[in-house]
Amino acid sequence: MIPRARTMRDAVLVLVGALSMHVATSFFGAFRPDMYSPDTLSTPEAHQQPLSDPSDARNEAALLKSLQQWKTSTVDVTHDFPETSMDAHAPGWTVFRNLYMANGTLYVVTSRPSSDFPDIQYITSTGLAAENTPENIAARMPTDKELSFITPEQAKRRWGPTSQAQAKGARNRVHNVRGNTILFNDPDQFLNHYYHFCAELWLGAWAMWQGVHDVHVPASSAGEMTAPPIDRIIFPHTDLQGWRDRPGFNAYFLRAAFPSLSAEVDMDWEDRVAATSGAGSDARAWHFDKVMLTDRSAAFRGSICGAQVHRTAAEAFYAMKQVNRLSRWWWEPVRRAVLTFAGVDQGTQEIGTRVEKADKEKVDPYALQAADSVFPQEKVVITYIDRQGVRRHLVDEDHEYLVRELKTLADTNGYELNVIRAETLTKEQQLDVVARTTILIGVHGNGLSHLIMMSPTPISTVIELFFPGGFAHDYEWTARALGHKHFAIWNDTYHTHPNLPWVAYPEGFQGTRIPVYAPNVIDIIKDRVAGKLR
Ligand SMILES: *[C@@H]1O[C@H](CO)[C@@H](O)[C@H](O)[C@H]1NC(C)=O
Ligand SMILES: *[C@@H]1O[C@H](CO)[C@@H](O)[C@H](O)[C@H]1NC(C)=O
Repeated sequence: MIPRARTMRDAVLVLVGALSMHVATSFFGAFRPDMYSPDTLSTPEAHQQPLSDPSDARNEAALLKSLQQWKTSTVDVTHDFPETSMDAHAPGWTVFRNLYMANGTLYVVTSRPSSDFPDIQYITSTGLAAENTPENIAARMPTDKELSFITPEQAKRRWGPTSQAQAKGARNRVHNVRGNTILFNDPDQFLNHYYHFCAELWLGAWAMWQGVHDVHVPASSAGEMTAPPIDRIIFPHTDLQGWRDRPGFNAYFLRAAFPSLSAEVDMDWEDRVAATSGAGSDARAWHFDKVMLTDRSAAFRGSICGAQVHRTAAEAFYAMKQVNRLSRWWWEPVRRAVLTFAGVDQGTQEIGTRVEKADKEKVDPYALQAADSVFPQEKVVITYIDRQGVRRHLVDEDHEYLVRELKTLADTNGYELNVIRAETLTKEQQLDVVARTTILIGVHGNGLSHLIMMSPTPISTVIELFFPGGFAHDYEWTARALGHKHFAIWNDTYHTHPNLPWVAYPEGFQGTRIPVYAPNVIDIIKDRVAGKLR
């Protein structure tokens, strides 16, 4: 499908609105939206212009020219210094055009004062692992070694030829890194974890990427990747192992969702740094057409992530949500790409859009009886992630009681019940089960990260079992952002948005004696399926 019929100019104006709202909510003080005039943002995108009719021989030259333009960069860095602009920004998430890098420093080339841009602490950091000490907090603050603002004249003095040489046709010592790049500025502290990599970093990245390109995903083509391709990702602060998790889901997810992108790590970045570390007439710079820079520390300096839900993705998500840039099916292109790769059948992938259609017609597809209904009968699938074999888990008797009660519920109502130990299943088996799942149940932990592969429906539910008194937002916020209702269970009580407890890790949180009163869980499932707890 095609992005909503809107001109570039409209899109830019909407974002200008978005940015001013951002200012109104005062995430940063010195940031003025007036710099985001359409003029500075509208760069010609040759490939978006209609091609001439190729059957017309007279237009052949024009066609070749436009194809050529598509292949080559749309900006000229050999003789100009195209100014850096910002397409969108939220703390920790910034989409730039024409960003430069030399000797490890990112350069915003602009004739505007740097005070026209967000404070750099909301854009980047030194990329160190986070600890909660004053020294470490200070050490993560970015300086002009991380991100600098220079004028086009300064850029020319550094990387341009002398006027004498220029007269003889000499070019800038600026070299183009074509296409779309994501710079993931984080260290391996959290990257090597399925939840943080897929359900936080990529979730935020995709929200921002879809949003900034105004890709409206309609139900009818929810599986198509219509956002511009991401050509490469770069991890300047982690090595090859740093972004890979032990079970191997991160690499699987990445290659399945984005088979064509290439990934660079710290050594590759060091190559780019070293190649631009010269001085004088050896000074060089890279020019990136488009870069999304993400930074965990910068996201935590934002009020939503830092003070409310502690999810970096939330900054990107709400920035785009605020301006209506995320449709209900915004995550579907990624989810379906992974499921398709895993061999999950189309019918399963489409549960969400199918159920929504029935729901709109006021039909309950989970309670259908009539054989002639145009809506297929949907099955309620309950999946309980059994963690009794790993460290944090339930009181054994409570686990057994829960399994018995779930079985009775499933048998009585014709539901499908899966009690799974993820570690005994292949990735494909896990994804197949979770893609079919209506109700996902599990103790707080990485097993619940699979919720990113569930179909959102009016009754899709994540039930997270906590040690009473304990709470964290990881799966709660993520479930909600993806359209699932979440319940935090404390034995025989529960909490759900917006009435959530404070984040707390009491004694017992990580233990092997987490209690759960099974009838509490059963009642929630019954009420959800009956549409009583929407
Ligand atoms: C490049 O960066 C290094 C490390 O920060 C610094 O010591 C060196 O002076 C820089 N080189 C130039 C030419 O700026
Ligand atoms: C859990 O709830 C049940 C039912 O109210 C209660 O009998 C049991 O004592 C509770 N367990 C704990 C550890 O509080």
